[in-house]
Amino acid sequence: MICKKIEFLNFRNIENETIEFENGVNVIHGENAQGKTNILEGIYLFARGKSFRAFKERELIRFGGDNAIAKLTYEKKDGENELGVEISKSSTKRFYKNKVKANKTSDIIGDFRAVLFCPSHLGIIKDAPSVRRRFLDVAISQLRPIYIKMLSKYNNVIENRNAILKLDENERKQYEGMLDIYSDELSSLCADIAGMRIEYIKKLDFWVKCFFDEMTKGKETPKITYEANAKENDFETRESLKNKYLRLLKDNLDKEIKNGATLYGIHKDDLKIEINGRDARLYSSQGQSRSLSLAMKMAEGEISREYTGEYPVFLFDDVLSELDENRRKFILSKIEKRQVIITSCEPLDFKELENISFVEIKDGKKERVGLFNDNEEGYLEKNEPDLDDEE
Ligand SMILES: Nc1ncnc2c1ncn2[C@@H]1O[C@H](COP(=O)(O)OP(=O)(O)OP(=O)(O)O)[C@@H](O)[C@H]1O
Ligand SMILES: [Mg+2]
Repeated sequence: MICKKIEFLNFRNIENETIEFENGVNVIHGENAQGKTNILEGIYLFARGKSFRAFKERELIRFGGDNAIAKLTYEKKDGENELGVEISKSSTKRFYKNKVKANKTSDIIGDFRAVLFCPSHLGIIKDAPSVRRRFLDVAISQLRPIYIKMLSKYNNVIENRNAILKLDENERKQYEGMLDIYSDELSSLCADIAGMRIEYIKKLDFWVKCFFDEMTKGKETPKITYEANAKENDFETRESLKNKYLRLLKDNLDKEIKNGATLYGIHKDDLKIEINGRDARLYSSQGQSRSLSLAMKMAEGEISREYTGEYPVFLFDDVLSELDENRRKFILSKIEKRQVIITSCEPLDFKELENISFVEIKDGKKERVGLFNDNEEGYLEKNEPDLDDEE
């Protein structure tokens, strides 16, 4: 998968600009607050269906404007495609594929695939379970379109079920039948969603082991499994998984009524991450956590390739400056042959790489575009006339 170009109109601090990308490594550089992350945010919008950092979509609209537009041109095995999005103050966000309006955001997810890696991801091992669930959900959604539909259905059922659990005893009695229906629906969805997560985690475990082994020269062995209220033997069939979740809901109904909320289900599950048999969430050192999170991001790319036959686009937001020399070398050696778009304040950090393109961003605009790093400055501007050839 190759991201060819992105066009912006009134998106964040970018008034009107088109940025083109090459195969291989692309470095978007510039001083702080010029719009580098805004560009990655725009690209990743098409992979995830929403911003990775805006709380409300309207934050994406340029100050003073009424709507923001972004258009992404990308190439896959089946040819070139275009995805567009329009975010306006007056209506909901609209996506387009090859100029045809998508009915729902979930219809375009999975078409353009990307792996995003930013400094906050380095904390994934020790963060709250919700952060690891989000990692799983975003990764799986890009590969299995049905997953995102199930999740949204799941959230709806939880909302309805919680509304009943919150009622006082008399009112609740009238809805007892509904409560049973919701519990049944919820446990079916739990079985399907957990099933897909377990399948993904098996692959994740395999690839994280491979990358981590290479990084630590085989000294330490990680293990990733699904941590759920359901136990290993419940995972055997969809039916056993469904029954387990259903039993949990039935057995704990009083507790749930007291809390006014659904306390069991896939919204409480977690990734269990171990190193040499110890829980990495509790005991890993900072270096181990960083290596693990790095391995998880690289693994996400491999699994995406396994499912679809193509590597996703890798987007690294300023993350390399956070890594030490060894880890940085490791990651660069792994991505050199894929398309990666990196933001950085310091372009010369990448000068040892081959096949690299630079775009400098200033105040939301392209300041200069460079191709090679073989002149004195480490920067040769693209389309610059070659002075030696001039008479
Ligand atoms: N809706 C908006 N309209 C106009 N400007 C915006 C909007 N949202 C954010 N900005 C501005 O965009 C600028 C660039 O943000 P961005 O996060 O892309 O910077 P950056 O180049 O990645 O900087 P850093 O190197 O510090 O990470 C910021 O100054 C921010 O105030
Ligand atoms: Mg930034």
